[in-house]
Amino acid sequence: NGPSLAIVGVTGAVGQEFLRVLKERDFPYSNMKFLASARSAGKQMDWDGNHYTIEELTDKSFGGVDIALFSAGGSISKKYAPLASDAGCTVVDNSSAFRMTEGVPLIIPEVNADHLNGHKAGKGGIIANPNCSTIIALMAVTPIHRAAGVRRMVVSTYQAASGAGQAAMDELEQQTREVLEGKPPTQNIFPFQYAFNLFSHNAPMQENGYNEEEMKMVKETHKIWRQPDVAITATCIRVPIMRAHAESINLELENELSEDEAEKILKEAPGVSIINDRAANRFPMPLDASHNDDVYVGRIRQDISRSDKKGLDLFVCGDQIKKGAALNAVQVAELLL
Ligand code: A2P
Repeated sequence: NGPSLAIVGVTGAVGQEFLRVLKERDFPYSNMKFLASARSAGKQMDWDGNHYTIEELTDKSFGGVDIALFSAGGSISKKYAPLASDAGCTVVDNSSAFRMTEGVPLIIPEVNADHLNGHKAGKGGIIANPNCSTIIALMAVTPIHRAAGVRRMVVSTYQAASGAGQAAMDELEQQTREVLEGKPPTQNIFPFQYAFNLFSHNAPMQENGYNEEEMKMVKETHKIWRQPDVAITATCIRVPIMRAHAESINLELENELSEDEAEKILKEAPGVSIINDRAANRFPMPLDASHNDDVYVGRIRQDISRSDKKGLDLFVCGDQIKKGAALNAVQVAELLL
């Protein structure tokens, strides 16, 4: 017993993770529907002891569905999420299509579950999942913000292949093999060699010299915190890592906070784990975060460029497919029950 569910983009990296996370968390459901493009329609898939046939996503896919988890790209969400909502299905959308739309809650459950505006399963409506880099940063920074007030945040990201989907992960693996074998690397997804290299995030460049990924971190943080006056700047970089993002974060605070107090606050924060062993030079790595729920924080230190205790540096790692996407969406769905 539970809501009737649908997964849109079930064959994708995040779609597949939705299924693993639903199972892991024992999410209650009465019925399940697998949706993808015409290319996948008719393919068979086993999940949770049952046999499913993937259906083509159409205007009519959402009758009788209470909750749909969408991860098939922005244009699919733009077209089908409103249709689903009109049919009484409540949509949790992993794309960027509605994140900045007024009235659409942009939710990280540990941070702003109170912004959900009474949305419930089976009542229609769209709830947006924030960008993966934003989620991973704010899991660590929000507890600090609550304690000491963040006035300015400078972020540099080291982003995994998974954010660009399953095909990008496949490309990284294939290129790595090809380079080691002395062959020219195949380039289908990214415009540059990815294996043994890194490059500025592939999101479209804007007139102000920031790419869209960087501007998402700025605008989404303002919306999630409901504080458009916090100063934020970001540099987003794609690194040859499979599925966990890392981020270097420098904070300027309203009030003084010692590094020990910061570590204590982060130790108690939900969904956050600390790896901060200075003696062993052991701090969060993407492989620590991969396939795990928590966001890992380390390198917690006073910013020595300041004479007061209003500057703090952090290094965070989080699984892009899990907390950066599927897990966060499923946690939102849990709030809808
Ligand atoms: P399909 O496998 O049928 O193309 P990823 O983010 O890993 O690249 O996955 C994208 C997901 O979005 C896949 O499940 C893909 O399904 C789905 N998708 C892409 N285009 C469409 C479409 N036109 N209608 C429905 N699903 C789509």
